[in-house]
Amino acid sequence: MSAEVWAWLSEKGGVGKTTNVINVGCQLKEQGKNVLIVDADPHKSASSWSALAGENAPAVVIVEDNLKNDVAKLRQAFDYILIDCEGRLGDRTIDSMKIADLVVIPYAPSPLDVWGNDSLVELIQARQQVTEGLPKAAMLVNVADKRTTLSRTIKSTLAEYDLPVLKSSTSRLTDYIETLIEGKSVVNLGVDNKSAFEIRMLTKELQEFGNE
Ligand SMILES: Nc1ncnc2c1ncn2[C@@H]1O[C@H](COP(=O)(O)OP(=O)(O)O)[C@@H](O)[C@H]1O
Ligand SMILES: [Mg+2]
Repeated sequence: MSAEVWAWLSEKGGVGKTTNVINVGCQLKEQGKNVLIVDADPHKSASSWSALAGENAPAVVIVEDNLKNDVAKLRQAFDYILIDCEGRLGDRTIDSMKIADLVVIPYAPSPLDVWGNDSLVELIQARQQVTEGLPKAAMLVNVADKRTTLSRTIKSTLAEYDLPVLKSSTSRLTDYIETLIEGKSVVNLGVDNKSAFEIRMLTKELQEFGNE
């Protein structure tokens, strides 16, 4: 077994990385996969969630300076390793990009967030040119508030960049907040729940994208 490594990267905080990682991790776990969440953010929010979560939740480990080596060692023991990175273009983000099979760049639909990832996108594209297209990378519209104009136009704005935009997106819903406070995930809310549906679709799309 060698885990697929998916990293959530952004030059910004507050765009839903940790929320995505936990929920997608729980959805993969629901599929029966062996999942590890690597908490590479000094705020350690994924670890705080893990302290509240039950035994059936994905394991969370804190990795600080040796991200590349530590993840390489852990690959053999898991089906998926999801990296929850810090919201800036520092060493951890760059190392995560180098070891990931797939990078997700989440965008909250505010103009400042849309403009805020240009250096990261350039870095990923430069890497892809020398490594035969790896890591695969895609943008994700996250925390979308359907009432705002930018939420409606963000996909076309992001389409101007040379990276694919995922068909899946997540909406601004309190379920994402309330479940995490209880150490749970939206997966616990059942198949008919909107946020649970969004996470199922996102997970499936990432699995398909990873296998392309
Ligand atoms: N889809 C969502 N709907 C509503 N609130 C969300 C959603 N995703 C994240 N949030 C909230 O937005 C804030 C930032 O999310 P977080 O996952 O911590 O982002 P990041 O890890 O990128 O800093 C948190 O308070 C979180 O609860
Ligand atoms: Mg975070």
